[in-house]
Amino acid sequence: MEIIRAEHSGFCFGVRRALEKTIDQIEHNTDGRRIFTCGPLIHNTAVTDDLASRGVGIISDLHEASAGDIVIVRSHGESEEFFVRAEAQGLDLVDATCPFVTRIHKLVRQAKDQGRHVIIVGDKNHPEVIGINGWCDNEASIIGNKTEAEAFAGQEAFVVCQTTLNEETLSEVTKVLIDHGVEITVNDTICSATRERQEAAFGLSKNVDAMIIIGGKNSSNSRKLYEICKKNCIKSYFVENNEDLPLKELQKCDRIGVAAGASTPERVIKEVIANMSENITNETNSMADYMDEID
Ligand code: F3S
Repeated sequence: MEIIRAEHSGFCFGVRRALEKTIDQIEHNTDGRRIFTCGPLIHNTAVTDDLASRGVGIISDLHEASAGDIVIVRSHGESEEFFVRAEAQGLDLVDATCPFVTRIHKLVRQAKDQGRHVIIVGDKNHPEVIGINGWCDNEASIIGNKTEAEAFAGQEAFVVCQTTLNEETLSEVTKVLIDHGVEITVNDTICSATRERQEAAFGLSKNVDAMIIIGGKNSSNSRKLYEICKKNCIKSYFVENNEDLPLKELQKCDRIGVAAGASTPERVIKEVIANMSENITNETNSMADYMDEID
């Protein structure tokens, strides 16, 4: 049995940066101030449990924090109003918004100021999309797929997309809009980390008997990797950790691909790979070399 890891997988630059900023706050919090994230820092319970054990609390709204508390802004970003409220409350904000997301905030703010209508292609319930909408006065149209694009009634629009969207959805939505005669300016704001992970997972899933996609259950970018892989490889499995591995199914496979979302820690990826290596009986000797390679 051969286990092949996708070339790009695991923590992206933005998630790593948000974690580093949080750890920095924990280590330098000499006066014992409370530290919060507004929602889980990343969509991975292994990480959020670890942060909780180090005293980082999760709030669902700023009113749960008090003046002097430290509040970390997640890589997903927040609305313009969030920053205004935090300042008014006297909170100590640490902005870990991914620069790729900040760029979208600036684009939609500028478009709105120019009087343009903004379309965000993405999941209307995802915090990144909610945050982006908050930089254009919560007046954007949010379109999740081509069916929703059919219902768009405007004449023109400035289009951006969620950083973790897949390319196919963006092109399907823009095609529908163009076919309906909507005059659009399209900004492909899918981030490079997402694109690299999607391309690597897509390529690998064509050449294996099974694909394991590792990510938190609420991780949008991990779930998209799963959807992409499923198109090429019917035996694609979305797992959060070792416990979810379909070991019986994997026993029948010679080549197993592994991909992981941008919020999946290296430790979890290595544990899953090691577990497969130990528990799938048709193992070859390639694992030791492989582990060296990814260290
Ligand atoms: Fe940033 Fe892309 Fe990661 S937007 S947080 S680098 S998935």
